[in-house]
Amino acid sequence: MQGDWREMNNRSTSKFRDTRHFQTPHLEVLNDESPIRQLHSGSIPAWQQAGADFVWSPYTQMKTTPLPIPVVATDGVYLILDDGTRLIDGMASWWTACHGYNHPHIIAKVTEQLQRMPHVMFGGVHHEPALRLASRLANLLPGDLKHVFFSDSGSVSVEVALKMAVQYWLNRGITGRSKFLSFRHAYHGDTTGAMSVCDPVNSMHSHFKGFLLEQFTHAVPQIDAEFDELDRFLRDTRETLAGVIIEPLVQGAGGMKFHPPESLLRLRQLCDEHDVLLIADEIATGFGRTGTMFACEQASIVPDIMCVGKALTAGTMSLAATVATDRVFDAFWSDDPACALMHGPTFMANPLACAAANASLDLFETEPRLAHVAEIETRLAEGLEPCRELVGVVDVRTKGAIGVIQVAELHHVEQLRATIVAEGVWLRPFSDIVYMTPPLTISDEEINTLCGTVRETMARWATW
Ligand SMILES: Cc1ncc(COP(=O)(O)O)c(C=O)c1O
Repeated sequence: MQGDWREMNNRSTSKFRDTRHFQTPHLEVLNDESPIRQLHSGSIPAWQQAGADFVWSPYTQMKTTPLPIPVVATDGVYLILDDGTRLIDGMASWWTACHGYNHPHIIAKVTEQLQRMPHVMFGGVHHEPALRLASRLANLLPGDLKHVFFSDSGSVSVEVALKMAVQYWLNRGITGRSKFLSFRHAYHGDTTGAMSVCDPVNSMHSHFKGFLLEQFTHAVPQIDAEFDELDRFLRDTRETLAGVIIEPLVQGAGGMKFHPPESLLRLRQLCDEHDVLLIADEIATGFGRTGTMFACEQASIVPDIMCVGKALTAGTMSLAATVATDRVFDAFWSDDPACALMHGPTFMANPLACAAANASLDLFETEPRLAHVAEIETRLAEGLEPCRELVGVVDVRTKGAIGVIQVAELHHVEQLRATIVAEGVWLRPFSDIVYMTPPLTISDEEINTLCGTVRETMARWATW
């Protein structure tokens, strides 16, 4: 059922009262002064009118934000809105829906699991979906990364990785090693430990000064001088460092910055030389996104600890894992209970999520997903290249199934977002980028539509 917001919302306390009584913005005539009241021009469904005042959206100024799009279903690469509009999801729900939405194999496996055992605690309990998933991950991940600690979200898996690294040294009787080196433009999650290793500016360390742990930050090294500087830094600080954490090849939410495999390889060598643990956060890059199953493969490195999440369940539900090598795991292997890893989320290894992840791995084995990523990369590169000529665009880059248009200044951002939606695509430009991380199942026709929409919309944006 759909209704008029003015009739439905007569609560004087409505936080949206100033903005949401406007109907259908006329996107063609929007300019900087135009109030954009909702991202989607369709009418507002009753459930959204009834509930919108009670939810708090992520990274959102609730007072000024347009009403989010009302999604009622998903299908393949499409989000389906309440009024039947179909949008190509150019972001695969924040990099998660790697096989597209509603894949029948995943639905069948999760449904089966739902009927048998939706959840059981993991403390003192083993269940088949988790053990099968752990052994499959151990086989799939590079080197001897084979000790899998499940958690319920990417940020938590990073917290676990940080704690694992700190406790690794303590368990070996070495004290004072509790700091981390992370990189400019890094994003590792929103929990406090994870935030402390994010880019200090992007993650607004200034807001949380005194609350966040103080860590070290460097540029991701790409040239000899930067490697030399990092070498000196590690030599000077290694007695205080528990580890170095990096998003391999692609730094995601911190600005979609790419670095070459060579950077990773030399970073691994430096960590070895200075005996510092290397943590690879593959939460965004894992499961085919950069063209190989894991980004670390392109540098032929094995980190000491790896975090995976997001596409682990193919976007079906939340699950993450922190995976350690033998060397790390062995430091916890002891007769002393105090040497155990001190962590245990209530929903760790949720059987439904593990069933989804197992089904997703089946699909990686049976469908030509990685080969298709190579085709997506070519099409994204060709499709986005013309944007390089537009006024205000400073870079166009692609890596695997990731396409990025970087601009000098992302002006008219709400207008841009609304126009993209009006053209049948779902993207969320932010900071100084318009980026695409579509499902890895996207067809040639759909990717052409995606790139065509972005090209045309960006050409209009350049004139605003
Ligand atoms: C590289 C990276 N690490 C960690 C996270 C946090 O994961 P989650 O949002 O599941 O907590 C994200 C999320 O975007 C990410 O991209």
